[in-house]
Amino acid sequence: MKTPAALTTTFLATCTLLLTACNGANTGTNSPTASPNNTTTTTSASSAIPIGIAFAQTSNVALLGQEGAAGARIAEKYFNDKGGINGTPIKLVFQDTSGDEAGAINAFQTLINKDKVIGIVGPTLSQQAFSADPVAERAKVPVLGASNTAKGIPEIGDFVARVSAPVSIVAPNSVKAALKQNPKIKKVAVFYAQNDAFNKSETEIFQKTVKDLALEVVTVQKFQTTDTDFQSQATNAINLKPDLVIISGLAADGGNLVRQLRELGYKGLIIGGNGLNSSNVLSVCKALCDGLIIAQAYSPEHGNEINRTFRKIYFDQYKKEPPQFSAQAFTAVQVYVEALQALDKKSKVNKLPLAQLRTELNKQILAGKYDTPIGAIAFTPIGEVIQKDFYVAQIKIDKDGNQGKFTFIK
Ligand code: ALA
Repeated sequence: MKTPAALTTTFLATCTLLLTACNGANTGTNSPTASPNNTTTTTSASSAIPIGIAFAQTSNVALLGQEGAAGARIAEKYFNDKGGINGTPIKLVFQDTSGDEAGAINAFQTLINKDKVIGIVGPTLSQQAFSADPVAERAKVPVLGASNTAKGIPEIGDFVARVSAPVSIVAPNSVKAALKQNPKIKKVAVFYAQNDAFNKSETEIFQKTVKDLALEVVTVQKFQTTDTDFQSQATNAINLKPDLVIISGLAADGGNLVRQLRELGYKGLIIGGNGLNSSNVLSVCKALCDGLIIAQAYSPEHGNEINRTFRKIYFDQYKKEPPQFSAQAFTAVQVYVEALQALDKKSKVNKLPLAQLRTELNKQILAGKYDTPIGAIAFTPIGEVIQKDFYVAQIKIDKDGNQGKFTFIK
């Protein structure tokens, strides 16, 4: 694990929940490649190459999905300004998945059949990926997960890969960081959202890590990602006097749980999983988010040139450091662009029949090596990301209780 010197990511605790800010809405009606016959369609020589972006832009899951959309939009402009695919621009086609499986399936079907995209980035949740990715797999359309971290995502099929490192690699880092801050931790209370595939996967890793470190899991409390009241689970856990709480949930439910644990008097360290890894969690737990520890698969301080550029563009636009989900979405678009560029050198991509382009692009994605904002990455033969550097951050709230920072820690 790479552990850079302290670094802060600033954001406003009062940031909006973003639930209505759908400015990346559906742009998929102008695809130049529409044709009743999928297999004979090509991307035309004069038009942009369509890449599908299937993120949650509405529902509570938009707290995560809109960070992904922001990163993808930055990538679209950045790579088009650099000449796109050897002179041909890319065009991102956004379809809102909302927060459930049906929304993700719908978005995938539209992107594949109507928008005729060459590949898809998304969906936001692993829970959605387990339903929607098989749709792309059957249609032989590449999918790059940019926030799916549950066990088993690349295994969904040959056309499914991800740039978001799995829970097994990322999550344990936060438990080790908590132990460094408080070596006296012995008793651990674990919470997880039982209706969500990623959270079930993540809690398994957290519970195994706790046991491997010879700590005791004193209770496992379950909830739903749609819950807002956690009084009974929080009280049950607090009565057992844990020294550490670990939460696997999403931003809205997870943030509310953190808030209610603090309101009920819990004073020990709290670890949040990847579903809480968004500055949007601050709009939920506000000043009571202080001290929350979250492992990271991205650091704004990563020193390569493309990250310095990405960080500057993001900062200029949003006046805060880029979050992990934005960096991962940028990375996924970059992988498509660079794989298309490599393929284009062998055979002009806008001359290839769409079905052939999708299949050859899928092979090219897995064969490449990429220098991205999340560092140097490549893929295993089944499409799991190979990434080197991981980090841990802790939320620090300013004295006025309004501003928070992700402070990167050892
Ligand atoms: N990392 C979360 C998931 O995989 C967002 O669902």
